[in-house]
Amino acid sequence: MDVTTPVIDHGARMDIFEAIRLRRSIKPERMKTDPVDRGLIEQLLEAANWAPSHGQTEPWRFVVMSGDARLELAEAVCRDLADPGQPTLPAGDPRREKLMEKFRTPPYVIAIVVAPSTNPKIFEHEELASTAMAVQNMHLAARALGLAGFWSSGKKTFGPEVAQHLELEAPARCLGFFFVGWPGVPWPEGTRRPAGDKVTWR
Ligand SMILES: Cc1cc2nc3c(=O)[nH]c(=O)nc-3n(C[C@H](O)[C@H](O)[C@H](O)COP(=O)(O)O)c2cc1C
Repeated sequence: MDVTTPVIDHGARMDIFEAIRLRRSIKPERMKTDPVDRGLIEQLLEAANWAPSHGQTEPWRFVVMSGDARLELAEAVCRDLADPGQPTLPAGDPRREKLMEKFRTPPYVIAIVVAPSTNPKIFEHEELASTAMAVQNMHLAARALGLAGFWSSGKKTFGPEVAQHLELEAPARCLGFFFVGWPGVPWPEGTRRPAGDKVTWR
């Protein structure tokens, strides 16, 4: 496969409403192992960087991992998920196997980090909001390029071993991992409850 050619021929020219509507999370295990050109990842990071932030704090940070770096991150996750008294998830443990498959399949894993400003006028939830917007920009840009994305979070991403591995200094913290690769399955259908159910007009 030509890694520089987007899967969708209209590529980044996809209409914004179409990209919003058609953006989907595709699980890392359902992505292809095919390489993705680094230039495409740089386009995603550039899109992320145009997110808004209160006070222009630009609190989003990304650690981009490919090749063995993905598996080194997975090892940090295994240490965080180890049973009490154990150093890591042992070889043969199905949790380790599942995790490794997840990290080894897509060519890129991007750690999503928020580095909140020390400005007392900026609240942490504002910084979280800005960072999430940066990720959404990245995910929409990925969709427009035909690339699959998946934001994975939870216990496996918030642990101390992962933070140390990413060399995070408080108050910076990891908000999850964004997996990127070419989709290995047809784009899933999305569903949403009606927008009107979540809106009050006054
Ligand atoms: C902040 C955030 C964290 C997420 N973490 C997880 C996760 O840990 N595991 C998971 O299966 N999906 C996770 N997702 C993806 C959601 O499951 C997905 O966005 C949702 O099912 C809607 O599907 P769509 O993105 O295709 O519209 C996360 C999404 C966001 C925005």
